[in-house]
Amino acid sequence: MSKTPSLKFVRHPHPAPLAADKRAELLKNPGFGRVFSDHMVTIRYSESEGWHDARVEPRAPIPLDPAAAVLHYAQEIFEGLKAYRTAGGGATLFRPRENARRFQDSAERLAMPVLPEDVFLEAVDQLVSVDRDWIPDGDGSLYIRPFMFANEIFLGVKPSSDYLFIVIASSVGAYFKTSAPAVSVWVSPDYTRAAPGGTGAAKCGGNYAASLIAQAEATKHGCDQVVFLDAAERRWVEELGGMNIFFVFDDGSMVTPPLGGTILPGITRSSLLTLAKDKGIAVREERYSIQQWKADAASGRLREAFACGTAAVVTPIGIVRAPDGEFTIGNGGSGTSTEALKASLVGIQRGTAADPHGWIHKVF
Ligand code: PLP
Ligand code: COI
Repeated sequence: MSKTPSLKFVRHPHPAPLAADKRAELLKNPGFGRVFSDHMVTIRYSESEGWHDARVEPRAPIPLDPAAAVLHYAQEIFEGLKAYRTAGGGATLFRPRENARRFQDSAERLAMPVLPEDVFLEAVDQLVSVDRDWIPDGDGSLYIRPFMFANEIFLGVKPSSDYLFIVIASSVGAYFKTSAPAVSVWVSPDYTRAAPGGTGAAKCGGNYAASLIAQAEATKHGCDQVVFLDAAERRWVEELGGMNIFFVFDDGSMVTPPLGGTILPGITRSSLLTLAKDKGIAVREERYSIQQWKADAASGRLREAFACGTAAVVTPIGIVRAPDGEFTIGNGGSGTSTEALKASLVGIQRGTAADPHGWIHKVF
């Protein structure tokens, strides 16, 4: 389906990249997802030609026929990973092959062609290389967004014959705008994110479209994120709108919901599981109910909870709000286990700590 013997990336450098002083101004306080670099990578796929026409070109609007399948049936998947500036002026990525693999899994679930891992990696490397000046210094990073969508001009409901794979990059700071020491989450009473047999484990745009009403409800209730319960029993904590979740108990052990097809297999989640084991922490992938969460927060058995993901990194959760009331975790701020795990992860990601698992990919 997706044979790509040799895909040559043709470079079309931007004729007028943003001036250095204007870029520096944007990089001072980029926020999340609004500041974009000069270039993008595009690769086309058609049933007859396979993957072809790989380009590094100026970032620009893409012409789209109003009958393009993605606009009607949402056949679209994406990834998210970050490039970091190293002390020596180089650039690194954190476990990008895991993103390439998850992109393949998402493609299979959405009946899309599978992009070879090495092509995904080369596309990301090419963009980070050409737009290296857009990697912020300090705590910032360059958020890379590879995505692919159905491009066939046809209104019949079937897997598309044509696709466009694109990689764009956005200079980012923190994902959450809040200056509070921890975020608050809203337990959605009415909406679920994913059902067994559905697309919960795939990173497809449709999952996020379906989550927006619950996220808007969270915002209305003064919360930073929505937390979803399972669709079958409305009992088990699954994940947040855009992050996985961990719980830390008074005996130092940790729990995170198991991967069962309805939550996203987060790369941060899997990395934290490994780092926790390295530290000798007993960590269980186990179902945890909302009732238990509330009871454990009240009794003090639960000490900490945190969200994790590429955008969120590790973010403590302080308040859990639901229609029948709210509860506070610990002192409502961060906790020692959360901070220790975050420090270990960020140290590896930013090259200030050793990388015992070989997670760092050097771009240049
Ligand atoms: N869960 C959801 C729904 C997400 O959108 C994300 C973000 O990518 C994650 C979990 C965390 O995944 P990762 O750690 O690979 O970024
Ligand atoms: C990521 O962390 O990469 C995501 O896709 C989540 C989203 C909140 C930006």
